[in-house]
Amino acid sequence: MSGILTIDRKKLVLQAGQIQNGTPTIAVVKNNAYNFGLEFAVRAFLDAGITAFATTSLKEAEKIRSITDQSMIFLLNPTTEFEAVRGLDLSITLPSLTYYEKYREELSRISIHIEYAGLFNRSGFDNFKEVEQVLHHQAQMNEVERFFLEGLWCHFGYADEFDGNYEIERKNWLGFLAEFDRLDMTPEYVHAQNTASFVRDGILPGHTHTRLGIGLYGSKPYSGLNDELFVQPFELYSSVVQIREMDENMPMGYGGSFVAGRKTKVAIVDIGYGDGVLRKRAEYDCLINGRRYPIVSLMMSHMIVEVDEEVSVDDKVFIYHPDMRLDEYTFKGVGANSEQLATLNYNTLTKEISHES
Ligand SMILES: Cc1ncc(COP(=O)(O)O)c(C=O)c1O
Repeated sequence: MSGILTIDRKKLVLQAGQIQNGTPTIAVVKNNAYNFGLEFAVRAFLDAGITAFATTSLKEAEKIRSITDQSMIFLLNPTTEFEAVRGLDLSITLPSLTYYEKYREELSRISIHIEYAGLFNRSGFDNFKEVEQVLHHQAQMNEVERFFLEGLWCHFGYADEFDGNYEIERKNWLGFLAEFDRLDMTPEYVHAQNTASFVRDGILPGHTHTRLGIGLYGSKPYSGLNDELFVQPFELYSSVVQIREMDENMPMGYGGSFVAGRKTKVAIVDIGYGDGVLRKRAEYDCLINGRRYPIVSLMMSHMIVEVDEEVSVDDKVFIYHPDMRLDEYTFKGVGANSEQLATLNYNTLTKEISHES
């Protein structure tokens, strides 16, 4: 047996349901739904009552449309594929005044969400004056030539940090919304909040939707939160293929990557960085028979774990488990939740969907 990733569909639906807490939600399903599998996740989120989705890629948006013809599908990245957008009835970001000036003729009857740059600043309008220029220009066009103003949005880049920047970006964005409020227009979607922002603040005033990613998939955006609020719906494990007794100075692994310095026992486990176990993750432990043991060396398709008499060949070795949560390693500095998920290699891992719990 090599590495196995099991995803419990019922837990995913339950988690997606509970994190929303009754608030309308746009599910972020970019990058193959945080590597859970796009179609699988979209169907699970539909079951959890979600009817709006966001992704960065047209290809993924097309796939989502083939699954659900009623949902709002929002393209987060600027696109110039206007015919495809119209054909698939997608909603798109309006990312800047420059973009508007270049493509305004092509936006006719397309649903757009005006993006505010804020502190995150990946793209978006810098200030409300630029938005006014767009709206002024639109007002001069014939109705059939205009875009359809469906939404306003921005992204909080600091909500999972507690250094004061989140308060600044939130204030700037709420100021932008207040300026917009003076116009007599009410877009159907006003969305800015990722998981961290929503967990910190609940739904902010003037917002119609949250725009959640990692919380739907069951990981905590920052430490100190309750496990029950974030049910992790997956496990990653492999098994012990050999046990070796080691002498004090016996080297193991490439270039003798592990020398115990004492007589000890190690387990060889058939999962490695080729399956998506990050090198930083392997600086920590794994779970065998309910106990934690240190990973002492990581190779492409194996890792070495220092064990004791309790561990035998064929025992399951968990990298992620309800008692060994992915977010624990996020907070230990291994990498972002999404980074640990995105690296999992489905070409080598076996993926099993369970429907049992
Ligand atoms: C634009 C945008 N909105 C929302 C999200 C969801 O954030 P989170 O996964 O922290 O909930 C992301 C994630 O990267 C994003 O890029």
